[in-house]
Amino acid sequence: MQAAELRNDPFRRITVVPFTGVFGAEISGVDLNNLDDETVAEIREALLRYSVVFFKGQDFTPEAQAAFGRRFGVLNRHPYVKPMDGHPDVFRIVKEPTDKHHFGSGWHTDLAYTETPALGTILYGVDVPEAGGDTMFASQYAAYDRLTDGMKAMLADLKAIYTNANTYGKDADRFKVGVSKAMKVQPAAVKEVAHPVIRTHPETGRKGLYLSPIHFSRFEGMTPEESKPLFDTLVAHATQPEVTCRFRWQNGAVAMWDNRCTMHYAINDFSGVGRTMQRVTLEGDRPV
Ligand code: SIN
Repeated sequence: MQAAELRNDPFRRITVVPFTGVFGAEISGVDLNNLDDETVAEIREALLRYSVVFFKGQDFTPEAQAAFGRRFGVLNRHPYVKPMDGHPDVFRIVKEPTDKHHFGSGWHTDLAYTETPALGTILYGVDVPEAGGDTMFASQYAAYDRLTDGMKAMLADLKAIYTNANTYGKDADRFKVGVSKAMKVQPAAVKEVAHPVIRTHPETGRKGLYLSPIHFSRFEGMTPEESKPLFDTLVAHATQPEVTCRFRWQNGAVAMWDNRCTMHYAINDFSGVGRTMQRVTLEGDRPV
């Protein structure tokens, strides 16, 4: 058997090439607008194995992207970001050439400030800069595996409190720096939720760290000041280069990630040019 065949086993309908030594994979040989059930099952398997998968050369209308998302679960309607007209399950992430704020620019996992954070996210590059605007990912399985037994034991019953205030409250950066008019985000009333710091993935059974720095308030039973040193240590651990990867976008590329075992970071390193992405989000369940 050829090395490539071994590497792709058990994938028969898609070609899967690992992206780093730890996680992530690029999938080719597939048109996401034209999928049979076996191919969908292989993409699902690849997502569970690699935590984030990338496709290139795709052509997603909003309807087509929503239809693709529905093959993997129920679609989420974002609590604060207005959907595209006529497409309630799809929204656009827009940074205009003059905008300073960049949506998702900070380590996070999607919708961590809700009771049932997102299972997965499917992001499509509509109009991306020639250079800049990459997205980074961090494997939280790998971050957990690299913890010492002492840290694993100490974190076993710890919960973190997440809040929508950091990103959607009236004092959030996006409202101070200036939110893209195209995104029509309005300040929201503050809500908090507690989630375990270590979560077990409901499908793979693997344990991972579950952190969302841009949404973090404090650990349960502690003040923000008491929480900060440990939280900062965990975030540095969870984003060390060895557990990350970085995706360079092109128009027509798609990234699909599992929010239950990864964090991501939209890099705000471009200005004077715009960036438009189209997002569909899969409903998740309560982390345990
Ligand atoms: C997000 O957090 O969904 C945005 C990621 C990106 O635009 O790169």
